[in-house]
Amino acid sequence: MALKTPPLFFTLSLLSLLSLAFFYWNSSTNSAPPSNHRITLSSRQESINVYMSPLPRSLNYGLLEKYWALNSDSRLGSEVDREIRKTLLPEDFGKHLPYPENPIIKQYSAEYWILGDLLAPEEVKRESFARRIFDYRKADVIFVPFFATLSAELQLVINKSVFRKRVEENEDYKRQRMVIDTVKRSEAWQKSGGRDHVFVLTDPVAMWHVKDEIAPAVLLVVDFGGWYRLDSKSSSENSSGSMIHHTQVSLLKDVIVPYSFLLPKLHISENQKRPTLLYFKGAKHRHRGGLVREKLWDLLIDEPGVIIEEGFPNATGKEQSIKGMRTSEFCLHPAGDTPTSCRLFDAIQSLCIPVIVSDNIELPFEGMVDYSEFSVFVAVSDALRPNWLVGHLRNYSDKQKDRYRKNMVKVQQIFEYENGFPGGVGPAPVDGAVNHIWRKVHEKLPMIKEAIVRERRKPPGASVPLRCHCV
Ligand SMILES: *[C@@H]1O[C@H](CO)[C@@H](O)[C@H](O)[C@H]1NC(C)=O
Ligand SMILES: *[C@@H]1O[C@H](CO)[C@@H](O)[C@H](O)[C@H]1NC(C)=O
Ligand SMILES: *[C@@H]1O[C@H](CO)[C@@H](O)[C@H](O)[C@H]1NC(C)=O
Ligand SMILES: *[C@@H]1O[C@H](CO)[C@@H](O)[C@H](O)[C@H]1NC(C)=O
Ligand SMILES: *[C@@H]1O[C@H](CO)[C@@H](O)[C@H](O)[C@H]1NC(C)=O
Repeated sequence: MALKTPPLFFTLSLLSLLSLAFFYWNSSTNSAPPSNHRITLSSRQESINVYMSPLPRSLNYGLLEKYWALNSDSRLGSEVDREIRKTLLPEDFGKHLPYPENPIIKQYSAEYWILGDLLAPEEVKRESFARRIFDYRKADVIFVPFFATLSAELQLVINKSVFRKRVEENEDYKRQRMVIDTVKRSEAWQKSGGRDHVFVLTDPVAMWHVKDEIAPAVLLVVDFGGWYRLDSKSSSENSSGSMIHHTQVSLLKDVIVPYSFLLPKLHISENQKRPTLLYFKGAKHRHRGGLVREKLWDLLIDEPGVIIEEGFPNATGKEQSIKGMRTSEFCLHPAGDTPTSCRLFDAIQSLCIPVIVSDNIELPFEGMVDYSEFSVFVAVSDALRPNWLVGHLRNYSDKQKDRYRKNMVKVQQIFEYENGFPGGVGPAPVDGAVNHIWRKVHEKLPMIKEAIVRERRKPPGASVPLRCHCV
């Protein structure tokens, strides 16, 4: 079902990207720069050269236009976007559109901020780690500017029933095919087999239909939750019990990126007494893998000092979370339907010490951030012992907790995506998430180069079984 993409389309999309960059430049000269650009990266000598695949605007900002033009979205959490829709002006379409505020979508906004940083004119982003290159042969990696999360979420709004089907009515599927067919036809992909291509797949259902085709590439994901299950299903007959075969994702080639946090940052100077010991808000029942959560819920619900509550993804729920996370010493982070969630990053912004009960969790920027300096890691088996968890947490002295909180202050900015510029086009906060993501990708360059060389020497017709990367 490959869609024909005339070369004119590419030219137009490039032009529209350029004009977007121009708009940004003009508007930014009139407004004060955001305040979070204090600390400078040690030097700009170290950077990553990024070429952008020429995709039509309909696959990124065009999707935002589609989203904001919707007139019915009755899904949970969409109230706030209904209000924003009323305030958008016709001239906003085509330039300064925000990313959705619906928490279900906003938590996955990495795609918007990464592209916005790449599109900012070079002269204003001297401190961004990614440097945009216009000749793919001089680039370290090829970034594919597809808003895969927004594409999937739009389809779920417009017609959920065809989401998993490869049919004409599934616009998300058609867009996935268009992206894949376009990049696979390019010289850049043919030279590398896609290993130096970078896709943002924050939503676990993003690019669902073409996961196997993009498997060689560098995938930016919030965790491997969905992938493990698919993988272990396909190899279950021969699998040795709990062994997970990851043939499509691996910490070696992929990068774990943070969710976008949804709660406002609490400054340490605003920190007040925290009368509650442990706080958790969320759904008790999750469709997959939430067994631990349910058992913990039953164990903790009647414990003194513990607040566990169901929440809604609307303004009431947000107020509830802000209050809960700012008045509690510890915030519980059990495995839900995915190993991670934006709750962890909300806890950090609220200076609530995370208690992570999830035996094999992948976290963003490990090696750059040591989570054990400000989080409590608890084995699932211990957490499920009656009264154990509360006793364990009560054993932390005030001094220890203060030290954890001070350490947390140092990492708050690392998870910041927003750059404060209209339309999201502008340099990313210097010490924020986008620059850390590119640093992580940069660390993988030697391995990517090696893999490309290995791939190239293979004689035609050679068949190599999919391998498990055991890390
Ligand atoms: C750029 O800004 C100037 C001064 O604020 C304004 O007069 C001009 O119309 C703007 N140009 C564009 C293309 O927005
Ligand atoms: C969704 O697509 C299916 C298959 O084409 C169609 O039968 C159904 O009416 C569509 N639903 C909506 C709400 O458009
Ligand atoms: C399991 O292993 C056997 C022999 O090694 C092989 O023939 C079969 O295709 C494998 N099945 C799956 C589902 O991988
Ligand atoms: C949020 O949702 C809950 C449950 O549907 C409802 O009771 C509450 O009034 C809602 N709050 C707002 C601000 O819409
Ligand atoms: C808490 O500390 C006491 C005294 O040091 C110790 O006996 C107990 O095992 C600790 N409890 C937990 C759950 O770590």
